[in-house]
Amino acid sequence: STDKPWSDKKILITAGPTYEDIDPVRFIGNHSTGKMGYALAENFAKNGAEVTLVSGPTHLEVKHPRINCISVRSATQMLEESKKHFSDCHVAIFCAAVSDYKTAQTATDKIKREKQGEMTLALVQNPDIARTLSEGKKDQICVGFALETSAEVENAKGKLKRKNLDAIVLNKQDVNAGTGFGSNTNKIFMFSSDNRVFESELKSKDLIANDIQTTLKDWFFT
Ligand code: C5P
Repeated sequence: STDKPWSDKKILITAGPTYEDIDPVRFIGNHSTGKMGYALAENFAKNGAEVTLVSGPTHLEVKHPRINCISVRSATQMLEESKKHFSDCHVAIFCAAVSDYKTAQTATDKIKREKQGEMTLALVQNPDIARTLSEGKKDQICVGFALETSAEVENAKGKLKRKNLDAIVLNKQDVNAGTGFGSNTNKIFMFSSDNRVFESELKSKDLIANDIQTTLKDWFFT
């Protein structure tokens, strides 16, 4: 049907953390719950889009039938799966909290504790999924997220440019105000590459997802 704003549009969303395995029982991860990415997926699907959600490990479940959820673990896997769906999407939203580093190798056996002394893990950089895909885009609208602890606006706008994005969502991380990892509420700013700005109130991640969806529609699809 064409009565919904995102009918006939394909959206790619990355969500959640990535886990970089050290050995069979240990990994490097982060506190991302995936809530924002899943809320975006539900909101876009509800509004008619066909959504591919490439998700790192979370405890969340997908509800809408128009969401195709692909579960991955590492950043490398997330990039590989995202690549498969990037070329024919209209909008790509990079919401995942991707680990900047992975172990140089994953041990096949559990690493034994040293009797004494320190141990060092060799780490190598992960690919930047947002940058890799956005640098090779044709006419996809690419949207990133930024969570900064200082010089928030400058850093977010720097990321927008460096990663060749069309828009960036700045999460106003204020631990005292109930925003950020694991929380149900958020406040955001959005900046576009052609200098448009959107500012939200503090509200639930579901309502933030709706703000992001309507702002992207307004900026890029009217
Ligand atoms: O550089 P930084 O990690 O702060 O950038 C955050 C944005 O870049 C988010 O949109 C995140 O999903 C994306 N990103 C990515 N791959 C990485 C690192 C970040 O897609 N390896």
